[in-house]
Amino acid sequence: IKKIGIITSGGDAPGMNAAVRAVTRTATSNGLEVIGFYKGYAGILDKEYTELTYASVGGIMEKGGTILRTARVPGFKDPNIRAEAARNLKELGIDALIVIGGEGSLTGAKLLYEEHGIPIVGIPASIDNDIPDTDMAIGVDTCLNTAVDSMQKLKDTASSHERAFIVEVMGRGSGYIALMSGIAVGAEGIIIPELPIDYDQLTDKIWEQRKRGKINCIIVVAEGAASAYTVARHFENKIGYETRITILGHIQRGGSPTAFDRILASRMGYEAVKFLLNGEAGVMVALNRSKLIAVPIDKVLSEKKELDYELVKLANTLS
Ligand code: F6P
Repeated sequence: IKKIGIITSGGDAPGMNAAVRAVTRTATSNGLEVIGFYKGYAGILDKEYTELTYASVGGIMEKGGTILRTARVPGFKDPNIRAEAARNLKELGIDALIVIGGEGSLTGAKLLYEEHGIPIVGIPASIDNDIPDTDMAIGVDTCLNTAVDSMQKLKDTASSHERAFIVEVMGRGSGYIALMSGIAVGAEGIIIPELPIDYDQLTDKIWEQRKRGKINCIIVVAEGAASAYTVARHFENKIGYETRITILGHIQRGGSPTAFDRILASRMGYEAVKFLLNGEAGVMVALNRSKLIAVPIDKVLSEKKELDYELVKLANTLS
C-alpha cells in the first residue's frame, strides 16, 4: 500500500477531525500518501479531494464537524454508482480506503470491498451509538455532554417556574442518547423506542412526586419513540406542572469533541492504518472493553446493537 483515501460520511460526529488527523499522521509516518475526499462518497464520485499531510491536519483535533465535510449519498445504493467510485479510486492510484461514519457509510464500505476488492477499514462515528460490536462510536460522548449540559440549564428554569420540560433528543431508532443523558440529569421520565410507552404509569409517578413537593420535571424522549409534542399532549393537565417543549436537534452533533472522543478517535485512526498495513481489510475498528479490535464489517452490519436493560432498571430506580 502506497496511497490511501479517507472519507467522513453520513451524519457528522464530534471527533471526526481527530480521526482524520490520526489516520493522516499514522499513514504519513509510515511513508504513505493520504488523499482526503470531500463530502464522503460524493467526493470520490466527483473527484473532489485534497492531499492531507502531517502539517495540514495540525490544529483540527479540537474542531467540531469535519474539515472533509460530509454527505449522505443515497445513490451509493446503486451498484453502477459504486463501480464508478471504484474506477475513480483506481484511476487516482488509491490502494485502500478508510471510511469514518455510521451504519449507512459502513454499508457502502462493505459493498465496495466485496464487489471491487478495495481494501477498506471502517471507523465507527455516529452520535447515536447504534453501531454493533463497538462499545462506543466517535461523537457519542460529546453529544451526551451537550445534551446533559442543555438539560441542566432547562432544569434551572424548570425549577424557577415549577415546570415540566419534555426534551426530545436524537438517536434515530436507538434510545441510547435518551437513556444515558436521562440517567446523567436524573430525569423523571425516559421514553425510548426499545420499550413500550406506559403513559399512565409515568403520569402517576410524576404526579406523586409533584404532590410530595417536587418543583421541576425533566422527561427525555428519544426521537425514535415519539415526538415531544405527542408526549406533551399525553401529560396535558395531568402531572401538576405547566409544560414546555425543547427539541435539542442538531446542537447535539456540534461542538468541540470531549477528551474522551479525541482519545477514542486518535486511537481508532491510528489502529485503522495499522490494520491496513497488516493486511486486514473489510473490517471495522471496534472498542471492546477498552481494547481496540478488528471486526468484519459484514458481521457488524448483520447485527443490531442491544440496549443494556440493566441501565433502564437503574434509571427507574434512581429517578
Ligand atoms: O445519525 C445521526 C443523526 O443525528 C440521528 O440522530 C438523526 O436522526 C439524523 O442523524 C439526522 O439526520 P440529518 O442531519 O440528515 O437531518
